[in-house]
Amino acid sequence: MKLEVLTTGDQSPTLYNEELNETYHSRHGARQESEHVYIASGLDELVHLDTIRVFEMGFGTGLNILLAHQFARKQQTRLELTSIELFPLEKEVWSQLDFSINQEEKEVFSQLHELPWEQNQELSPLFSLLKRKTALADIEYANAFDILFFDAFGPDKQPHLWTPEIFTLLYNALDQNGIMVTYSAKGQVRRDLQSVGFEVERIPGPPGKREMLRARKI
Ligand SMILES: C[S@@+](CC[C@H](N)C(=O)[O-])C[C@H]1O[C@@H](n2cnc3c(N)ncnc32)[C@H](O)[C@@H]1O
Repeated sequence: MKLEVLTTGDQSPTLYNEELNETYHSRHGARQESEHVYIASGLDELVHLDTIRVFEMGFGTGLNILLAHQFARKQQTRLELTSIELFPLEKEVWSQLDFSINQEEKEVFSQLHELPWEQNQELSPLFSLLKRKTALADIEYANAFDILFFDAFGPDKQPHLWTPEIFTLLYNALDQNGIMVTYSAKGQVRRDLQSVGFEVERIPGPPGKREMLRARKI
């Protein structure tokens, strides 16, 4: 897999996957996008819960999980996260990425990457993480999560990850009233999410993108 580090519009880095001709985040601003889509439009909706169970599709650079860690500390809310990734990054790649705004974040970022796979780890009383090296199509969860971060490469690049069959797995994985957030606002994605039972909202997107989707299991 050939990966190149790029600097995005908010000065945070991302990776460019040459084979897919796709970046891991928005070129307008990686950190801004993750903050908007997964934290402000996702976790912030669930602050009424004492513990939030989070599932992420695509650990990738670990940026979403780094921001979730900040959220847990700031809100004093416990997060129990599971993140899957089929192609974990080598240390020589992730160590070139500097998303952090201070030294403490830098240390957490390295810790997230260095945690062993397939073992649930308690990083603090407010934060546990299980990283699984698993394909999305193989997940089997039932009513296990309050929120899903759906961060696959785009539907035009990896259409097999944006199908009604996959959305059914995700619907089953969510608990009642759980939400799924994704940066995509594609009409076909919205209709396919609705077809498997989600109630779907189009909401304002991150800088550079008019809309994104938030789906709810009712
Ligand atoms: C858009 S990137 C994820 C960005 C990531 N959340 C981050 O903050 O860096 C999509 C990720 O999904 C992973 N991936 C691709 N196909 C997958 C599959 N079938 N199952 C699980 N992960 C997959 C890719 O390797 C990549 O890391």
